[in-house]
Amino acid sequence: MAGVLSAGLTTGAAPFVEEARSRGELYITQAYDLYSPENHAAWAALYGRMQPRWERYANDHFLRGHEVLALSRDRIPRLSDINLRLTPLSGFQARPVSGYVPGFLFFDCLSRREFPTTITIRDQARLDYLPEPDIFHDVAGHIPMHTEKAFADVLARIGSCVHTAVSLAARVRDRGEQSRRLENVIRAMSRFFWFTIEFGLMRTPRGIRAYGSGLLSSYGELEYAIESEDVQRYPVQLEWLINQGAEIDHYQPLLFIVDSFDHLFSLVEELERWMHAGKLNHVAPGLPDIAAGDLQSFLDAAQSL
Ligand SMILES: [Fe+2]
Repeated sequence: MAGVLSAGLTTGAAPFVEEARSRGELYITQAYDLYSPENHAAWAALYGRMQPRWERYANDHFLRGHEVLALSRDRIPRLSDINLRLTPLSGFQARPVSGYVPGFLFFDCLSRREFPTTITIRDQARLDYLPEPDIFHDVAGHIPMHTEKAFADVLARIGSCVHTAVSLAARVRDRGEQSRRLENVIRAMSRFFWFTIEFGLMRTPRGIRAYGSGLLSSYGELEYAIESEDVQRYPVQLEWLINQGAEIDHYQPLLFIVDSFDHLFSLVEELERWMHAGKLNHVAPGLPDIAAGDLQSFLDAAQSL
């Protein structure tokens, strides 16, 4: 227990989280008192260097979200404090998790307006190194967007698509064919999430601005995404997006632009129509790889219907 108390909640070195995971516990508490001074210092350093870039490159909804949440710049925020401000605005709440959430459960949480939120924070000495999502990515990068009702509606609508996916899969008798189709549908949904919620750009009166949280939590990539001549930026086309490989290990060479969150909402509805029509059963192979646990979570959900 002494080890748990003194180790802090650093990504990859947080006994409190690792022990919860080894017990199979997905949903945990934030265990706020376990954050070390170094953990809070990492938050302050990340926040301090991002702020000028947010002002320059983030969309206005995100900036307003930061204002209304009144996130601390110096200390890691308490999720319970965030939820007091967030839930009345959009129905969303941050829900602390021990790490990886299998795909079906992740999207199902979104459909219930719960956002699975990592509680650990990256090592203070390696601010740019992000082996997995941390609380800075989830809270400073994602959650301000959830204060905007139109965006929150998009996120919940994306989540609800998994119920369509599993109900369609449940009608397929042949287990091999059921897995093959689901793998394609998951790949299409993952690409949609990746190129919008994580890496989306929006056309605004101030020019192209970021609303994707992968960009908004990355000091280097946020500026690169907007300014670099090496990035291709195109108006979003759903048929392109769901067939485009999503490369995760370096800055994105290709980004898609939406006009508004109403526009994005209409794309989710189209995605679901295409799912019904079978158009997602054969998307282009390639990244992302679908983890066995993600596919299994969908198969389990289909078989429980
Ligand atoms: Fe994310």
